[in-house]
Amino acid sequence: MRGLTSKRVLITGGAGGIGTATAQRFVEEGARVAVIDRDEAACKRLHQALPALEVILSADIANPESVAQAFEQLDQHFGGLDVLINNAGISIRHAFMDITPEEWRKVLDINLNGVFYVAQQAARRMLADGSGVIINMGSTNGLTGYHYYADYNASKAGVIELTRSMALELGPTIRVNAVCPGFIMTPMQEAEYTQEMRHAFEVKVPLQRLGSPADVAALFAFLASDEASFISGQHFVIDGGEIAGGLASQP
Ligand SMILES: NC(=O)c1ccc[n+]([C@@H]2O[C@H](COP(=O)([O-])OP(=O)(O)OC[C@H]3O[C@@H](n4cnc5c(N)ncnc54)[C@H](O)[C@@H]3O)[C@@H](O)[C@H]2O)c1
Repeated sequence: MRGLTSKRVLITGGAGGIGTATAQRFVEEGARVAVIDRDEAACKRLHQALPALEVILSADIANPESVAQAFEQLDQHFGGLDVLINNAGISIRHAFMDITPEEWRKVLDINLNGVFYVAQQAARRMLADGSGVIINMGSTNGLTGYHYYADYNASKAGVIELTRSMALELGPTIRVNAVCPGFIMTPMQEAEYTQEMRHAFEVKVPLQRLGSPADVAALFAFLASDEASFISGQHFVIDGGEIAGGLASQP
C-alpha cells in the first residue's frame, strides 16, 4: 500500500486475533507499530511472536485515565501518531432478557466509551500534527439485528454513528472510517468451534467461508494508506456477502 512506510500506527486490542494480524500487516508495510492491550500475558506472547513491534502498552481502554497514561508513554516513543486502528472490543452472548446492568455497562464501556476515549486522545495529537487517519472497529452486528447480542449490537451501531460524526468534525485534517466484519475466524474461535458450528456459519455466507484476521488487516491497511485519501465518514462491510440480501439471504 502507498504511504504506510514509517507511519506511526497504534492498534488497540493488538494482542487479540484481528489485532495481531493487523500489527503483522502494518509491520510488513514498513510502518512503526504500537499496541495497547489489557491482557499482559498476551502482550508478552505478542512481543515474542512479533519482535518488530516498537511499543506494547498494557492499558484498559474503558478507563480514560489508563488511556491518557498510555498515550503519554506513546508520546515518549513516537512523539505523535499517524494512524489509529481502534480495534479492541468484547462480546457476551446472552438473551436480551438475561443481560444484567453490569454486563450492559461492561460491553458499552469497552466497545463504545473506550473507542471514544482512545479516538479523542489520538485526534488531539493528529490535529496538532496536521494529519491522521482513524479507523474504528464496527461489526455487521451494528448494521442489522442479531439474536443474543443486544448490548454488543447497540455498541457497534454507536461506533458507526460516532465514526460519521468524527469525520464531519475532524476533516479535513483527519480521515475517519469504520470497518464492519462479519464472521471472522480468530485463533480463539478456531479452538472453540466444532466442525458443525463452523459449517453452520459458512452456509450463511455467499462466499462459503469465514473471514480470516488477515482479510480484515488488509482492509485496515488499504483504508490507512494514501490509496484511500478521498475516503472518509464511511463504514466498510467485510463479510463474504453475508448481509447482502438482508432477510432474503436466510432461506
Ligand atoms: N472475530 C469476529 O468475528 C469479529 C467480527 C466483527 C467485529 N469484531 C470486532 O473486532 C475486534 C477484535 O475482535 P477479535 O475477534 O480479534 O477479538 P479478540 O478477543 O481475539 O481480541 C480482542 C482484544 O482486545 C483486548 N481488549 C478487550 N478489552 C480491552 C480493554 N478494555 N482494554 C484494552 N484491550 C482490551 C483483548 O485483551 C484482546 O486481546 C472487536 O472489537 C470485535 O468486536 C470481531
